[in-house]
Order: sequence, then structure tokens, then C-alpha cells
Amino acid sequence: MKRILITSAIPSVNGIKHLGNLVGSMLPADIFARYCRARGRETLAICATDEHGAPIELAALEEGVPVADYCAKWHQVQRALGEKFALSWDNFGRSSSKANHELTLRFARALWKNDFLELRTTKQAYSATDGRFLPDRYVIGTCPHCGYDRARGDQCENCTRVLDPIDLIAPRSAVSGAHDIEIRDSVHLFLKQSRLATELRAWIDSHKQDWPLIVTSIAYKWLDEGLKDRGITRDLEWGFPVPDDIADGQLKGKVFYVWFDAPIEYIAATKEWAEKAGKPQAWQDWWLGEAAEQVTYWEFMGKDNVPFHTIIFPAMIMGTGEAWKKVDRLKGFNYLNYDGGKFSTSQHRGIFMDTALEVAPADCWRYYLTANAPEGSDSNFTWEQFAGMVNKDLADVLGNFVNRVTRFCAARFDSKVPEEGEYGDEEKSLIAELDRRVGQYGLLLDQAEFRKSMSELRAIWVAGNEYMTRAAPWTHIKTDRARAAVGVRMGLNLVHLFAHLTWPVMPGIARTIHEAIQPIAGDGSLIAWPSGPMARVLDDLEPGQPIHPPDVLFTKIADEQVAEWKTRFGGVDA
Ligand code: MF3
Ligand code: ZN
Repeated sequence: MKRILITSAIPSVNGIKHLGNLVGSMLPADIFARYCRARGRETLAICATDEHGAPIELAALEEGVPVADYCAKWHQVQRALGEKFALSWDNFGRSSSKANHELTLRFARALWKNDFLELRTTKQAYSATDGRFLPDRYVIGTCPHCGYDRARGDQCENCTRVLDPIDLIAPRSAVSGAHDIEIRDSVHLFLKQSRLATELRAWIDSHKQDWPLIVTSIAYKWLDEGLKDRGITRDLEWGFPVPDDIADGQLKGKVFYVWFDAPIEYIAATKEWAEKAGKPQAWQDWWLGEAAEQVTYWEFMGKDNVPFHTIIFPAMIMGTGEAWKKVDRLKGFNYLNYDGGKFSTSQHRGIFMDTALEVAPADCWRYYLTANAPEGSDSNFTWEQFAGMVNKDLADVLGNFVNRVTRFCAARFDSKVPEEGEYGDEEKSLIAELDRRVGQYGLLLDQAEFRKSMSELRAIWVAGNEYMTRAAPWTHIKTDRARAAVGVRMGLNLVHLFAHLTWPVMPGIARTIHEAIQPIAGDGSLIAWPSGPMARVLDDLEPGQPIHPPDVLFTKIADEQVAEWKTRFGGVDA
């Protein structure tokens, strides 16, 4: 069985991420990682903060603190929020780390040696008002491709094309708004990725069956438009300096571009994981040479990140001539919108990882976001839909089922798994349905099909509810205790099954549900995938075993709360 390597696009360190960021990278990566672990697959889940680049330098300037302190602080904030969302990384690194510094130099030196880097004199935007070069997104203007008038110098948010600041029409400084942008010469290193166009296309062709349309369409658009060589250094202070042995010291005072070192951090964070685990060489088995051929590597990201992971990072790897692992399954996502518009960090519009937890528990968000993941197209968050799913799927279907069955067992069967009676036709047909549905749910998770897997999970909860309505032990208890016992026993086995199936998406609730039935097996760090046919899984609990009805699992959301949150979070109707 192959080992599973999972990376989520590393969030930039500045500020708190919104739910649109979470839904397209860190959350699906975590659900997939938990699922793989639950099935006993050897799994490594890696994330980090992305700490270089002009935006970070300028954000630190605004806070009035040294950049290194700024990054250290916000890394901790993001780590804590990730933990509150139950993101179970094996390592959450930092792209400014020593390990990444070393690996970045290793990549750059190999590329330089293999003649995949060259020096070019470039035209850089410089503002006399600001007294500095204005790289990347610090110039704003009109996109030359689609006409969007707030395109940033590095990439147009509207059409996702990657840009150069000097391409922008009517450029202005994002720092001061100054229009006195002059163009100065500056020498930089370029990655000659155009030389790799044929190799890249062949590699993408070989993966197109396994990648979503959003991913292949962006990759082919890039190739079809002709690959441009890309500058990989910047006129900044914050970043990894270009060493003198590359280009004989002609790049003194310049640093590597954030997008050069950021994907290398996937490897560096694995290296740190290995060191912390006391097996410093183990990282290579995931990333390098023959051992890594036994790895299936999954990447999770939003669509704006796709060009960097289908073209630029693979080109960097190819250019080294070394046997680095390249992505096998690239799970790209569209955007999640907020109530018909964009989530906006600058305008505080939408829900952020900190404020989300003030209104609902992490598990509710995890379920809602996964069930509405922007997979085939952009999806839209609305408070009505969120409240509807929490109230119906979670409170009415899952929560109510667990509470109803366990309380009835407590009231009528002394809080013990009843032993009377035998499973009959009703139970057998439920078992057959669940064999099919649980199998399907697993297949969907294997393929990281999140929306579909959540509808299958919901259908499993619903099947349990419908069975319970038919079995109606509350009716039979008066006349036929054995028949009621069969319903309750099956009901408790279903509760147990639901805990196992729900764990990858709602680990906290799954634990509460499981502990109502029995302690979690093993070291308690995971709730394993149910093993074997449903006939066995649903007849697993020992008669006489004690159970402990939990408190109400989900609080319903009232209409007044929806109204209040709409105003508070700045929806269009507010
Ligand atoms: N920080 C980038 C973003 O937020 C993602 C970097 S992904 C990596 O869009 F590949 F560079 F690591
Ligand atoms: Zn555009």
C-alpha cells in the first residue's frame, strides 16, 4: 500500500485567514489526512506559514515591529487557530526556517549549475514618494488581459493570470497611492522554464485523468499561451539572500522571490518533522529517489495557486535534475463567495477563522464547508444555508438520533446494550443499504470528492433515522419488549458506526458520540474506519455493556441569530 503525503498551500503569515482560504486548502487536506489515517494508511500531513515577500515586509512596517517578530507572532496565531479547527498537521512549519533556507539554496544552486537560471536586467517599478522599489502586489493598476482595474502587480485576482508590475496599465503605488512610478533597471535571476515546456506538457498529460477540470484547464492555458521565463529574485530586504556563489555576487542585496522558496517549504517542513520525530533522514523517503516512488502525493489549494503548482514548482524540480517527488493528485478548488460577493480581508467582509468560532463550534463549520466545498464551480456562503444545515443535518438528523436512542436506552434498558431478540428483515435490509452506502462513502473520500462524500454521509444518518422510525421501540416497549430491544440494540450500533464514519469531518463530535457508547480503541488519537461487513459492524456491541447518554450535541441556530450575524459580518443584505 502506498504512503500518503498531503500538503495544503501554505497560508501567508499576515493576518487571520477567512473561511474561503480554509475551505480550499487546509480543511480538505485535514479531512483527507484523517480519513487516510483512519484507514490505517501511513500518512504525513504538512502545512506551514508563508513568511516572505513584500506584503509581509510592509505589514510589519505598518505594525511598527521587526519583520521577524511580526512573522513569529502571526505564525503562533495561525497555529492556535488551526488547532481550534482541529487541523491535525504532522508539522506546521515556517517558510523562513533554517531548513527551508538550506533547501532553497540547494534548489537554486542546482538550477544555476544546470543552466536553468540566467541573469537579466529588468525594469522595476520604483516610487520616489515611497523611496523604494515596489515589487509585485505593491503596484496596482488595470489588468492588460481582462481590464480589471484593481489588478495587483503579481497576479490578476479576476482572471488569475500572473502579471509583472510593469504590465499594468495606469500603475499606482499600493503603499501611498502615488502615481510617480518610474521604471529603473535592476538585475535579477530568471528561471528558464520555457525550456521545459515539452517536458511539462508531457507530465501534465500523464496526470490529466486524475486532476479536476479547474486544474487542467489552468495548466493548459498557461502552456498554450507559451511559457514565459520568470524572475525568481526581488529587490527586498526580507527573504533569503542570493548567495555570492550564484552569479558571482552580482545579486548582492537581493533576495529570492517568495514563490520560489514557498513550495520548497513543503519539503523543509517535512525535514523538520523528521528531526522532531528523532529520525532525521526520514524526510527523504517522502521526497527523494526510489523510496518516494512508493508515495502518493496529494496537494490541496485554491485555483489562484494552481499555476505555481502545475508549472513553476514542477519546472524548478525538473531543472534540478534530481529525483524530487512531484505531485500525483492535485486537488484544486474554486472560490467560496460570501453572500454573493467576495470575502475581503481589507474590508473585513465575511467570516474569519477567529470570528467563526464565536458563533458556532469548529465541527459545524467543518461539516458545512465540506458539504459546500467549491469543487465544480464557485460556491456561495449564506447564513440561511449555514443555519439550515446545522439545524437539519446536524441537530435534527445526527444529533437527535444519538440523543433519542441513548436516552431511550437509559430510560428503558438501564443504560445497557439490550440483549433480547434477533435481527429480522428490517435490520437485514438496513444492513444491505449501509453496506452499499458506506462503501460508496469510502470510495468518494478516496477520490477526495468532498461534496458528494458529505451527501453520502448525510444519507447514512438519514437511513439510520428512518430505520428507527420504522422500528419504533418506544411503541413496542409496551407490548413486545424483545422487539423494542432489537431496535435499541441496532440503534446503539448505528450510533457507534456514525462516530466512526463522522470522525474525519467532525472529530470533536465523533469523539463525544463514541464515548457515549464506549471508550475509543487504541491510544485514542483516531477513530478508525469500520472494518468488515455491516452485518458484523452493526452487531458489534456486547449485550449488557453500559452506555452514557451525552448532552444535546448541537444547539440550533435561531432566525434572530441569523439576522444579527448578517449585520455583524457585513453581508450584502446588511
Ligand atoms: N501563500 C500562498 C497563498 O496564500 C500559497 C503558497 S503555496 C506554496 O496563496 F506552494 F507556495 F507553498
Ligand atoms: Zn485579469
